[in-house]
Amino acid sequence: MITDPPSVDEVTALLRAVIDPELGADIVTLGMVPGVSVAADGVVTVGIKLTIGGCPLRAQIKKDVESRVAVHPGVRDVRIEWGEMSSEERTDVMLKARWNARENAADTAIAVTTRVLAIASGKGGVGKSSVTVNLAAAVAAQGFTVGVLDADIWGFSVPRLLGIDEPLEAQKVEGSDKPRIIPNELVVGRGLSKGLLKVVSTGFLVGEDTALMWRGLMLTKAVEQFLNDVEWGELDYLFIDMPPGTGDVQMGLARMLPRTDLLIVTTPALAAQKVAARAADMARRSFLRVCGVIENMSAFTCEHGTSYALFGEGGGQALADQVGVPLLGRIPLEPAVAAGGDAGVPVALAGTGPAADEFRAIARLIVEEVAPPTNMAGCSARMLGMVAAALDAKDAAANGPQASDS
Ligand SMILES: Nc1ncnc2c1ncn2[C@@H]1O[C@H](COP(=O)(O)OP(=O)(O)O)[C@@H](O)[C@H]1O
Ligand SMILES: [Mg+2]
Repeated sequence: MITDPPSVDEVTALLRAVIDPELGADIVTLGMVPGVSVAADGVVTVGIKLTIGGCPLRAQIKKDVESRVAVHPGVRDVRIEWGEMSSEERTDVMLKARWNARENAADTAIAVTTRVLAIASGKGGVGKSSVTVNLAAAVAAQGFTVGVLDADIWGFSVPRLLGIDEPLEAQKVEGSDKPRIIPNELVVGRGLSKGLLKVVSTGFLVGEDTALMWRGLMLTKAVEQFLNDVEWGELDYLFIDMPPGTGDVQMGLARMLPRTDLLIVTTPALAAQKVAARAADMARRSFLRVCGVIENMSAFTCEHGTSYALFGEGGGQALADQVGVPLLGRIPLEPAVAAGGDAGVPVALAGTGPAADEFRAIARLIVEEVAPPTNMAGCSARMLGMVAAALDAKDAAANGPQASDS
């Protein structure tokens, strides 16, 4: 008995089982199937639009399409007509994939209202950790509660940069049967702009000397634990210091916290931009949005006003242009940045000078434009706190200048 060929709808249903492994969704949902036709003799022709013509997944998609459609007994042959997406279609498909990743995200202990910013770069030594702690501190000093997750599991430096070395404690928490990790806390700023840093790092678990013991641990597993088993509480922001050059953690984040926005740090050398562009490319593949570029170790201006571009010039802008995102700032190469790191007090907190100013300017840009806090206006507890603090400040002023705490 000869079975009738499938309808177009039936073929489309079969194609929903073909997943683009890179985009993490099926090709129909992603809009990669512009057309299906079925001939009376059972020959099915499927149009497939690839994001780019030379897509390395082409062979796999072909195999999957053929085998899935051939499942129907009425199919005699499967033919594929390949096409390539326009740049608008490509953007559209990325948006869909991002949305899809979001819908299917795993649950974490990070509140949905928390803005998540991961600081990444193509390689180590460009100042990711310095940028992470300085921006986190400068944002917190605007009155926010900011989590800092040191995802550089083996090469952690956040504890030293923030001058914290307390081991993390686990506690029984209401509503959870397992004890949960309590982050180390650091109050920053004062008065109206008093904020809080909540910090987690493997450095608090193992100490700088025993880091090697973690070699065997899966990187993404550790990050997953930090996202799930830490009692973060209500964070306005979570800053993640990413490990250099690895895609694992980015992929893990894309799965667990797909709303993560990436800030890419690069040095000003034009050659460095190529390395950093890889980080941006990886972000695109895992559907993390890149929200800005930060140039670090930019030209240093000495007290005589002479500028020294020790690490070249223009890399930050070039990368920002290439990725199509804003250059959020250029942090000069300045001894105060390294000294602040060694002392465990981020220069952005109390420091003066161009680097401190630039960190604070970028922090303002983040809060005001790039990633404004969620639901700030609706947070009545915070508003009440701010009113109370303002009244206190007024009283203090009325009692004379000696009452000032600055
Ligand atoms: N703008 C800067 N000026 C001076 N030194 C800097 C600056 N940014 C980073 N450094 C120093 O460069 C080194 C590497 O920075 P780090 O933040 O650890 O980079 P990464 O996390 O990318 O490996 C550190 O010693 C740090 O103090
Ligand atoms: Mg680092």
